[in-house]
Amino acid sequence: MKNRKWQDIISLDELEKGDVTNVKFGTKNLAVYDAKDGIFVSLSRCTHGAANLCDGYFDGIHIECPLHQGLFDVRTGEAKAAPARVRLKMIPSRVQNNMVQVYI
Ligand code: FES
Repeated sequence: MKNRKWQDIISLDELEKGDVTNVKFGTKNLAVYDAKDGIFVSLSRCTHGAANLCDGYFDGIHIECPLHQGLFDVRTGEAKAAPARVRLKMIPSRVQNNMVQVYI
């Protein structure tokens, strides 16, 4: 895709500590995970159905979908439990100057 660049989406101070935060960025609805291994970002929509993963349970590594309890590893996007089978769309992310940035 053309014109991709690193863009600020939220400051670290605004994140739910150890949890998932829903961030709307342009037309995208993102889930920002304050995980045990760092910050990760995915599209917030479950790959199984029309659920927002930000309403699910996050244990620091896995996000559990609130609708049918599908499970994803937020470090890779890998689907870990049925009925979720398709991996989560992860967004490249980094932290710079106290800001979470995504490459989109
Ligand atoms: S909508 Fe997420 S597991 Fe069904």
